[in-house]
Amino acid sequence: MSFIVAENLVKQYGNGDATVSAISDISFQIESGEFIGIMGESGAGKSTLLSIMGAMNAPTSGNFMVDEIDVYSLRQEQRADFRREFLGFVFQSFHLLSYLTVAENVMLPLTTVKASRKQKRAMAEEALNNVGLNDKANRLPSRISGGEKERVAIARAIVNEPPVLLADEPTGNLDNKTKHKIMELLQKLNTRGVTIVMVTHSLQCAKYAQRILYVSDGLLVENG
Ligand SMILES: Nc1ncnc2c1ncn2[C@@H]1O[C@H](COP(=O)(O)OP(=O)(O)OP(=O)(O)O)[C@@H](O)[C@H]1O
Ligand SMILES: [Mg+2]
Repeated sequence: MSFIVAENLVKQYGNGDATVSAISDISFQIESGEFIGIMGESGAGKSTLLSIMGAMNAPTSGNFMVDEIDVYSLRQEQRADFRREFLGFVFQSFHLLSYLTVAENVMLPLTTVKASRKQKRAMAEEALNNVGLNDKANRLPSRISGGEKERVAIARAIVNEPPVLLADEPTGNLDNKTKHKIMELLQKLNTRGVTIVMVTHSLQCAKYAQRILYVSDGLLVENG
């Protein structure tokens, strides 16, 4: 069985007359160590698909499996454990907490990890080092640039060293040079064995992926 398996995923939001069908029927498989791009028009269902893969949005029907674990048959707490162990998530907007420093933001996923504050701080510094931001650890998010915020979000997603990194438009509002820096960073993580699934609108960014899943109107129209 493949590392990641999606079978006949359907996601509808709302109910009755107000039902929106975000994902109609999507199936695919991803092997461990792949770098996958997800592309498609605005509203096609990309973020919905990624949030299902992120174990945070139950599909209306269908199955989603990682490492032979049927993610949505897990109870809430088990699923939270699964998420912490397997997944790093970079959101479409950075979701950094403005009242915490860069290092404290990166330490957030470690809340339930059994380690001393000092050890957690060291893990955060290691992750920040990986994204080239070790010198900004004590700044507040309001005092760093957009590209740096993106890198903090990536550091936070990898601080647990998860085998899978899901990124929703990690280069959304960045200039070309910064975009390439972020993509090179993702590529570096991928060569170290991290499986990456990245939503992007950018053809330049998509070139870093080994395979593109193209979503249109809630369906997978291309897989290759
Ligand atoms: N929480 C929600 N409640 C109701 N409808 C939603 C919700 N989230 C998304 N949708 C709808 O589902 C469809 C798919 O949305 P989704 O966010 O997955 O698109 P997307 O491909 O990520 O778009 P974009 O490129 O603009 O980010 C859209 O029609 C959207 O309006
Ligand atoms: Mg989206």
